Amino acid sequence: MAQTLWNKGKAATEVVEEFTVGNDRVLDLRLAKYDVTGSLAHIKMLESIGLLSSEELALLTAGLEEILKEIEAGTFVLEDGVEDIHSEVELLLTRRLGDIGKKIHSGRSRNDQVLVDVKLFLRDEVKKVRDEVMALFELLQSLSEKYKDVLLPGYTHTQVAMPSSFGLWFGAYAEALADDMFMLAGAFNVVDQNPLGSAAGYGSSFPLDREMTTRLLGFGDLDYNVVAAQMSRGRSEKAVASAIGAFALTLNKLAADCCLYMSPNFGFIKFPDELTTGSSIMPHKKNPDVWEIMRGHCNQILSTENTISLLCSNLQHGYHRDLQLLKDILFPALELMHSCLKMAVYMLEHVEVNRTILDAPIYDYLFTVEEVNRRVLSGKPFRDAYKEVGIEVNEGRFKAEKKVEHTHLGSIGCLATEQIARKMKRASNW
Ligand code: ARG
Repeated sequence: MAQTLWNKGKAATEVVEEFTVGNDRVLDLRLAKYDVTGSLAHIKMLESIGLLSSEELALLTAGLEEILKEIEAGTFVLEDGVEDIHSEVELLLTRRLGDIGKKIHSGRSRNDQVLVDVKLFLRDEVKKVRDEVMALFELLQSLSEKYKDVLLPGYTHTQVAMPSSFGLWFGAYAEALADDMFMLAGAFNVVDQNPLGSAAGYGSSFPLDREMTTRLLGFGDLDYNVVAAQMSRGRSEKAVASAIGAFALTLNKLAADCCLYMSPNFGFIKFPDELTTGSSIMPHKKNPDVWEIMRGHCNQILSTENTISLLCSNLQHGYHRDLQLLKDILFPALELMHSCLKMAVYMLEHVEVNRTILDAPIYDYLFTVEEVNRRVLSGKPFRDAYKEVGIEVNEGRFKAEKKVEHTHLGSIGCLATEQIARKMKRASNW
């Protein structure tokens, strides 16, 4: 028989329990330390409003700290038959301390308890993503500077278009990450608010000091309205999913570029053999599996926000058990995000660029606009110069002078690396 907090005589059948708990116990383990941290703040507050004596507070604090140590040491387990992390912690305290263990839940519901756990967890996760992105950003910025003089064909419609450079290419992904970081900053602000005290979603008749728990837990602000606090379940997850989706879209494009650039038909970049994969039949293959898997994972991450939206739509305000499933959608997506960001750094630390790409005659037409502009500078109206060069191309007479002099801000010759670094600083300063 399951040991549920709410058992008043008749427990749910095992199949009901198995169906409703599902994978939640495993996911709750990730929330364990945050659950205890939330409880530590809650009991301090309970003592301050007279619902616990100072002796009880001391005992409960020691009990919770012991559990925290077990969590950190990896010896904590969520026992079979115990419904969730919230129940396990209360059960352990009661087993070890007797009846005072049963007092920690005054003025609280598992609904606000799980809310606070998830917000504390997401706050850490979002910061971890930020730090991983910063490592990738710094690497891209340095690659951009290192290869600023190496030219690369630029494409529109997948057709040879105008000269680009590895400086532009690497730097572009760095700046895109700065844009994405603004989204992550937004998600952080949504997540960094204290829902504790909203209880089941409608507050409590106890005079809970919600500002005190906000301070103790280091939240930047509160979810004030208790109904809004409950409604933040799903909203916080969606904000985080949206932000990691932004990074995923950027990484997905980088991965797609790398797959193409590694193709022998392009040969723009290379990675050491150990970072490529082989074929079981074709002995010559050096496949870009890492980038392909990354491209696919990024698509999986991108689907997360949509899946969350679908789970949460058509639910009235207030708690519904459906919300439990948010964990199983977002937690794996966060894991994928961490591994993709780390892998992108690992790969790019070993990238080799081809310095002679533009020597091939197929890239001559990259320079048509350069030629038009040269004629404009010597006095010809743009449209006339455009036509002249166009006719030379059509008649096979076009001679490319493979020289590029782009000097304006953000162009090949002026990458604005410092300005981009300042942008990222603004976006990541939280
Ligand atoms: N596992 C539950 C969840 O994640 C905890 C909250 C349970 N609340 C309830 N009223 N049954 O949503």
